Amino acid sequence: MSKKLALAILLSGNGTNFQAIVDSIENGRLKAAIKIVISNNKDAYGLKRAKKHNIKNLCLDHKDFEDRKSYDQKLKEVIKQESVDFIILAGFMRILGSDFVKNFPNKIINIHPSLLPKYPGLNTHKKVLENKDKEHGVTVHLVDEGLDSGPIIGYAKVKVGVKEKENDLINKIHKIEHFIYPEILTELQEGKISIINNKIKIDDVYHKNGKEYFI
Ligand code: GAR
Repeated sequence: MSKKLALAILLSGNGTNFQAIVDSIENGRLKAAIKIVISNNKDAYGLKRAKKHNIKNLCLDHKDFEDRKSYDQKLKEVIKQESVDFIILAGFMRILGSDFVKNFPNKIINIHPSLLPKYPGLNTHKKVLENKDKEHGVTVHLVDEGLDSGPIIGYAKVKVGVKEKENDLINKIHKIEHFIYPEILTELQEGKISIINNKIKIDDVYHKNGKEYFI
């Protein structure tokens, strides 16, 4: 059995994805330890969740920093002290600058509520509805210097019903996010997925477009 994963979690809001990772650790499925939770938003409910589970947590409010560079520098220093295997973005609504990203090659993972490369950025559910898409989904990917653009590790699809509203999609998407994020981390811990030179290897095969997950 490979060693436990050491994780840093970055979030800005509710933190339901963080909670799903905690739940998976607590129920014994995911062999991992969350070393620190960092939020750029002092009111993020995710920080309360961390406190409740006795997980080290910190607010680094971007408003207290002069620019992105100084914010990222501090973030880098804090995370380096924790010696983590992966930096997990769980609703972290800030772009990480290229200096930060270069410091953690093959280590930063994000979850995004769309089937990337479709709809990077914000308001993905609205865009799906506006464009009358028949399917929507979630993507877990490695973070590079672009916006939601790094190599894809895995994705899961959902069907979009004709009568569905934005809230229905948000709920559907959260449900699959809470499944796929802990699942991918478990596969990383078990060595089924590896990340080598910015490329994703799953079950010994290099995957260009990631693996599809089914709930
Ligand atoms: C999630 O839907 C996640 O995919 C999204 O923010 C939400 C956070 O929810 N992330 C992005 O849009 C990143 N581009 P949570 O705080 O309940 O986990």
